[in-house]
Formats: sequence, C-alpha cells, structure tokens
Amino acid sequence: LSPAQAAGGATSPLVIAHRGASAYAPENTLAAVDRAAELGIRWVENDVQRTRDGELVVIHDDNLRRTTDAEEVFPGRAPWKVKDFTAAEIARLDAGGWFGPAYAGERVPTLEQFVHRLERHHQKLLLEIKNPELYPGIERQALKVLSNEGWLDRSHLAGRLIVQSFSADSVRTVHELKPGVRTGLLGTPSVSDLLDCAEFADQINPSYSSLSRGYVSSVQAFDGPHGRPVRVFAWTVDDARTAQRVAGYGVDGIITNKPDVVRKAVGG
Ligand code: G3P
Ligand code: CA
Repeated sequence: LSPAQAAGGATSPLVIAHRGASAYAPENTLAAVDRAAELGIRWVENDVQRTRDGELVVIHDDNLRRTTDAEEVFPGRAPWKVKDFTAAEIARLDAGGWFGPAYAGERVPTLEQFVHRLERHHQKLLLEIKNPELYPGIERQALKVLSNEGWLDRSHLAGRLIVQSFSADSVRTVHELKPGVRTGLLGTPSVSDLLDCAEFADQINPSYSSLSRGYVSSVQAFDGPHGRPVRVFAWTVDDARTAQRVAGYGVDGIITNKPDVVRKAVGG
C-alpha cells in the first residue's frame, strides 16, 4: 500500500508543484520549473496575467513589487501593476534576487517561455488564469498561445493540460471556447452548486483547510463535462501530516510548494 492508500485513499494523488517547486526556487520562474523537474515532479502549476501591450506573463500578484525589483528599476511607477507595464519593461526585471542571491537574474517568464521549459522536461501544466476581471479576453488569448505551441492537440488534451481559475465565469469561458480542455474551478462551492459547476469544470480545487472526506465524496459523485467523475485537487499543502490527511479524504491531487515532501508522504 502507498502511504495514501494506507490513509484511506484508493490511489496516490497526483503531486503538483505550486508555482513550480516554489519552496526551493523563486515562484513562477523557469528555475522553479527546473527544480520541480529535478525532483521528478511531472505537474507544475502557474499563474498567468497580461502586460500593458498584451503579452501573457507568469506571475502571481497583480503587481510586481513582491517578486521583482520593479520599485528600484522603475521608481515613480507606483503601484507597479503588471497591467501597466510592457512586456519589454517586465523582461528587464529581476524575479529571483528577492528569493536569494543564487537566483538573481531570473526573469518573469512569458507563458510561451514557460511552456517551452515544461516541454524540455516533459512536464504537464496546471495553468491558473489569475485576476481575469483585469484582463478581458485573457481566456481566448491563453488558449491561442497554448494552441500555437501544440498544447491543444489531442495528445495534450488527453492529460497534459488543465486550466483553472477562481472565477467561474473564466472557467466556463475556457470550456465554451475549447470544450476539449480539462478545466478546474478553484474554491469550495457549496454542494448545492456542484451540479451547475459540473457542467463546465472537470475539477473542483479547494483549499485543504476547507476540506472534509464528505465534501470530496460529494464532488466526485458528479460527472464533469467529459462524463468522468469530477476530480479534486487540494492546495496548498506543504507538510507530510496534512498531505496524508487530505490523501485519506480521497483527493485526486495535492498542490504543494514542497513536492518532494508531499510525494514522500503520499506516494504518487
Ligand atoms: O493552484 C491553487 C492555488 O495556486 C490557488 O491560490 O493564490 O496560490 O494562486 P494562489
Ligand atoms: Ca495559483
């Protein structure tokens, strides 16, 4: 029995590197993708937003302050919103120095660059459309980038790509634009809303803190838009005990900043 099976789950959950292996390398950078690959992790989560001139970039916050040196490079451009900077400006920023000197010079990757790096490592992508209300049309644009890179080909749709968002509207839009893409709705919708969600979401991805075995079972009792049981990925779990607990609830995946710790705890 795997640790997850011993804890009550039927199979080991997938382990997904949150923003890359972001406990060990700066989040949402190519270095964090590489670190996940070095740890043997196949699934990587990221966050996608849009620059002023329409480039999709991989960054979590809606502003550049926490994870880049934008304040130093562009003083006077407060509040340093991603959407107020061009791709060329963002490409000048250091997105690794804040994490540690060894990572100085890491950049904010474009979605295209991020996908290329995943391909190099044969990794899979859990793409989060972040703050879609700030970026009208971002769903269509993200799908276009993925399509250009071949990620909407049948082989990828079969299991190498999931697009998620906290916004049900955004997830529904992705499903309607490209019904073959697997989708995930972040959050913990009430059980009475799950039937509606299952029309457009293949997965419900809740915070682990809101989970119970009963809720996981309730979600998985619904069939999603592709006729398979709706899956559950829990986030963000970084310690072995919690990982074993949520694996015991029967979750299908665990999103973690420490994928090595979680994999050791639950298998997968
Ligand atoms: O993938 C789940 C998780 O990333 C959602 O929260 O804030 O880290 O994007 P956040
Ligand atoms: Ca995210």
